[in-house]
Amino acid sequence: MSMRLILLGPPGAGKGTQSDVLSRRYKIPHISTGDILRKAVIKEVPLGVKAKSYMDKGELVPDEIVTEVIVDALKSDDAKKGFILDGFPRTLNQAIALDESLSKISSGIDLIIYFETSPEVAIERLSGRRVCSKCGFNYHVKNIPPKQEGICDRCGSRLIQRPDDKEETVRNRLKVYQTQTKPLINYYLRKGNLKKVSGDMDVDELFKVIFKIFEDEHLA
Ligand code: AP5
Repeated sequence: MSMRLILLGPPGAGKGTQSDVLSRRYKIPHISTGDILRKAVIKEVPLGVKAKSYMDKGELVPDEIVTEVIVDALKSDDAKKGFILDGFPRTLNQAIALDESLSKISSGIDLIIYFETSPEVAIERLSGRRVCSKCGFNYHVKNIPPKQEGICDRCGSRLIQRPDDKEETVRNRLKVYQTQTKPLINYYLRKGNLKKVSGDMDVDELFKVIFKIFEDEHLA
């Protein structure tokens, strides 16, 4: 059975963290536009050069750029039996482009999980987030600390703060989410395949809630 998922929610909701858990558990790729763009920025390839100025300000990268990235990622063999989209779609135009692209291969999204998260929780999480400078794995200084301070458990590299986790950029990202991404909740509610969870729960508790939804929807 396929499992084609979208995780939707504000910055700091825990989409990336939960995607990682789900991807390992169900052996389906975690496709994060944020991760793809950050890698492209580091490598200084044309995609990264185009995206960097938008990301630094906490603005969205233009639709046509990110949509092309996702359409390519969904063509990979890995994505044939399912995928987790994290951070895409983020505008109505992206959602429509995704629907069009999937309909060409007689496919669609099985479930959208909306992480409802309070701004206070999101801000606390983003200000304490640390990411591995090499493998990109996420930690939180209080909630999900590494075994050794400042060092990645997985690959032993140095942990850093994401440049867009600075306070004023975070405030802009939350504003952009409210105006450009939140309207997608109604778009997917109308389609009837959106389920709401509380992103404020801890990681294991939230996974159990999602697992129950999968069972109810006959996805697991
Ligand atoms: P992106 O990387 O997608 O960032 P985001 O959506 O702002 O999401 P975050 O990564 O900040 O949060 P998250 O919900 O994944 O939380 P996480 O699990 O890390 O995008 C970055 C930029 O790229 C955008 O601003 C834009 O410029 C561009 N971009 C990307 N996609 C685009 C698109 N489609 N269109 C246009 N532009 C695009 O958790 C956060 C912290 O909390 C971590 O420290 C974690 O350890 C901790 N934590 C997580 N879950 C829990 C929990 N349950 N309890 C306690 N702590 C937790």
